[in-house]
Amino acid sequence: MCGIVGYIGKRDIAPLLLEGLQRLEYRGYDSAGIALQPRPGTAGGLRTAKAKGRVRDLRDRLPKRFTGTAGIAHTRWATHGAPSDANAHPHLDASGKVAVVHNGIIDNAADLRAKLAADGVELVSDTDTEVLAHLVGRAQAETLEEKVRHALGGIEGTYGVAVLHADFPDRIVVARNGSPVVLGLGEKEMFVASDVAALVTHTRQVITLGDGEMATLKADEYRTYTTEGSRTSAAPTVVEWEAESYDRGGHETYMHKEIHEQPDAVDRVLRGRLDERFSTVHLGGLNLDAREARGVRRVKILGCGSAYHTGLIGAHLIEELARVPADAEPASEFRYRNPVVDPDTLYLAVSQSGETYDTLAAVQELKRKGARVLGVVNVVGSAIARETDGGMYVHAGPEVSVVSTKCFTNTAVAFALLALHLGRIRDLSVADGRRILAGLRRLPGQIAEVLRDEERIAALAGRYAHARSMMFVGRVRGFPVAREASLKLKEVSYVHAEAYPASELKHGPLALIDPDVPTVAVVPDDDLLEKNRATLEEIKARGGRILAVAHQEQPRADDTIVVPRNEPELDPVLMGIPLQLLAYHTALALGRDIDKPRNLAKSVTVE
Ligand code: G6P
Repeated sequence: MCGIVGYIGKRDIAPLLLEGLQRLEYRGYDSAGIALQPRPGTAGGLRTAKAKGRVRDLRDRLPKRFTGTAGIAHTRWATHGAPSDANAHPHLDASGKVAVVHNGIIDNAADLRAKLAADGVELVSDTDTEVLAHLVGRAQAETLEEKVRHALGGIEGTYGVAVLHADFPDRIVVARNGSPVVLGLGEKEMFVASDVAALVTHTRQVITLGDGEMATLKADEYRTYTTEGSRTSAAPTVVEWEAESYDRGGHETYMHKEIHEQPDAVDRVLRGRLDERFSTVHLGGLNLDAREARGVRRVKILGCGSAYHTGLIGAHLIEELARVPADAEPASEFRYRNPVVDPDTLYLAVSQSGETYDTLAAVQELKRKGARVLGVVNVVGSAIARETDGGMYVHAGPEVSVVSTKCFTNTAVAFALLALHLGRIRDLSVADGRRILAGLRRLPGQIAEVLRDEERIAALAGRYAHARSMMFVGRVRGFPVAREASLKLKEVSYVHAEAYPASELKHGPLALIDPDVPTVAVVPDDDLLEKNRATLEEIKARGGRILAVAHQEQPRADDTIVVPRNEPELDPVLMGIPLQLLAYHTALALGRDIDKPRNLAKSVTVE
């Protein structure tokens, strides 16, 4: 969702904040703005610049000599109020002395607006955040910290906020409840951001605030404390991800870069975890001993978007290898249906960012009901990683493109590791364990092999790009692959796509098939091959075009992308890769904004 960056120190502040915003733009990108604390002796209060559109639009609009000693900046993804200059953050209070940037949602904003209006305050935007600026400005308190605390006491909802005040020029005050806030510690300078991506080029020493925590940043010191005012002692940690991994590294887009990083990324998720001696894997962070693992009667996987789809793959793997009933459900649905929580079920929350609000809320609901919840997460130290009782990091490295590729693949591989681990504690034989381990080790090389086919896949994408709609089908293991491929195509190319189990086609969607609605079919050489071939016949008989992803040329398909064979259980990992390239090249052929698809954001930290 939206991105926050702030700085206090001696550097030229506007370019620094703009660069930070650019690194956060993937989180939200419909408007942006900056507020600065002017240098001592400069006339006037806080200085601001805002613009609807991208960070580059803001850059073009900055006033001359726009500089200061501290600043806060924001890139927005609209929730309350359409994208516009007026609705862009920072928001000021009526006196113009207070500036606030905010991520999250203030649930009681409407009530607060009405109260402020009744008191004669003129609200100049449609946002919930403006309310917070007025509350800080009107708070009767001595210090900025107390003013902010007082203002936050009156709001219900989630926030990551940073506040500047003209009367307190030596500091930035920040607070967190449900939206990430990370402090970056420098030499005689301090940073704050909603995501380490904005900090890594300046400092690797960071402190992630917890919910209910606040901090005061001055150029040469910082202090953390609770919203009630008692001191906290968060220790700085060192960011492991390299600064370069946040750059495009010679690729046109992050999506392209991240697709091509997959052989290395998969290598990382496997590294140090494979145990040849017992034909199993080590997952140090699970916090689940063998006896507890044997006691698991069911596995329930929760996530949103692509994370949910990896959960579907994970559930199949766990059922196949560990023979434990398992299923996946969108976290957003789960939390609203008053779920029956069973003590013998192991719950797994899946999330790239570790911030997705619906997934986090599902975790909190489960924990409230006494369930054991583990995380399958990419971002170390993120909210879901902290709130769960243990879990696995998927080690995909930073994923910047809004559409998930390498993290999807790494999470699917992480599920294979978990399934193997649970399987070997239960009834999976040594021989099967060895077979899966060997398959896992082959994956990075085989992914690289699929990626070498890019030119041909790009040509195929050009051929199918102008379809009216696309149908994606697969059976059992192949169905989650079809669902993810269909989501990927929609997200990045805006081509309408549907995914169906191949077996369900004849129960309805076959009516849609015609020469303008091609089908992408996932057709592995497994025990369902003949069934899948029958589906291809049905489609052909209705005049449909077919693009198959298969282990061998499919005679009934118009085109086949052949992927290398691995173990059948791991087919979904490899079969997804060419379909990422298909989505990418379709979007490219249609001239889409690949890393920032319309209406979407990378991490959805609101309901
Ligand atoms: C958003 C993104 C999706 C992502 C989903 C879950 O909707 O656009 O690409 O799959 O959030 O994100 P998470 O960080 O929890 O994996």
